[in-house]
Amino acid sequence: MKVAVLYGGTSKEREVSLSSGKGIINALEQIGHDVVAIDFNPKHLKEIMGKVIDCDLVFIGLHGKQGEDGTVQGLLDLMGIPYIGSGVLASSLAMDKSKAKQIFEMNEIPVAKGKTYGEHQDVDDVEQDIIREFQLPIVIKPNQEGSTLGLTIVNEKSQIKEAIDLAFTHDFEVLVEEFVKGRELTCAVLGKKGEEQSLPIIEIIPKSEYYDYESKYSEGGSEHICPAHIDEDLTERIQTYAVQAHRVLGCETYSRVDFILNESNEPIILEVNTLPGMTPTSLYPDAAKAIDMSYEDMLKKFISLTLE
Ligand code: DAL
Ligand code: MG
Repeated sequence: MKVAVLYGGTSKEREVSLSSGKGIINALEQIGHDVVAIDFNPKHLKEIMGKVIDCDLVFIGLHGKQGEDGTVQGLLDLMGIPYIGSGVLASSLAMDKSKAKQIFEMNEIPVAKGKTYGEHQDVDDVEQDIIREFQLPIVIKPNQEGSTLGLTIVNEKSQIKEAIDLAFTHDFEVLVEEFVKGRELTCAVLGKKGEEQSLPIIEIIPKSEYYDYESKYSEGGSEHICPAHIDEDLTERIQTYAVQAHRVLGCETYSRVDFILNESNEPIILEVNTLPGMTPTSLYPDAAKAIDMSYEDMLKKFISLTLE
């Protein structure tokens, strides 16, 4: 089969996507597909569409804006080319952390207290509002970004403005959340609509204080424990929330749902990643490995779920 792999892209997660793309391209070639590897840049859309139009299927290996946010999915929908993963609406909802949180809350999936601010608002007013609404520590992050880019954990009032300014360099909205101290867990979801299953939960133990960009992508930057050492009841609860979160956003085929287990052992959902990392240090492929599914088998499964 002729499979186009879109990777790289122009978002701030470009480096991550180059690495995900490499893994995906290698594995598809191993399987025996005719791979058309495309470093995606909207400036060269005409040329890219010319290559994609001849393919049977597209694997979107992009992360972040103009890739994971529904825009590329919309383009492929218009072209009538099947692609692996979530469609336009689920992709853009999952990318918009604040909107996704509202949907999780409506569906009784526990979220951290949060509030969103727009760049049209006066930064002094935003700072005052944050001080009124939250107790420190808090997390200030761009509403639509990945890989913890632009994120600050704020412990002192004096850090708030700088953290807001940093987050606004990534997006026109910032999300402020109470900081939830606890264990970092993630749960991969796989399956066709209505039959999704969760993979074993992974606990992430970062080598640095937080699971930041460095600990996510540097070799040995974090340890993944799969299945996570948590009791059966809690495992089942988190897996149920993961599948539910995937479904309420309308995700398709695969996603990875991130949680923090707070100090009262309550899983708090952070976000759903519709195009989770596929790099050598990434979590989704590790969860697949835990059920004896190799990287190649995982891609085969994605393809069969998409085309069946
Ligand atoms: N945003 C990165 C790629 C992830 O969630 O894996
Ligand atoms: Mg993410």
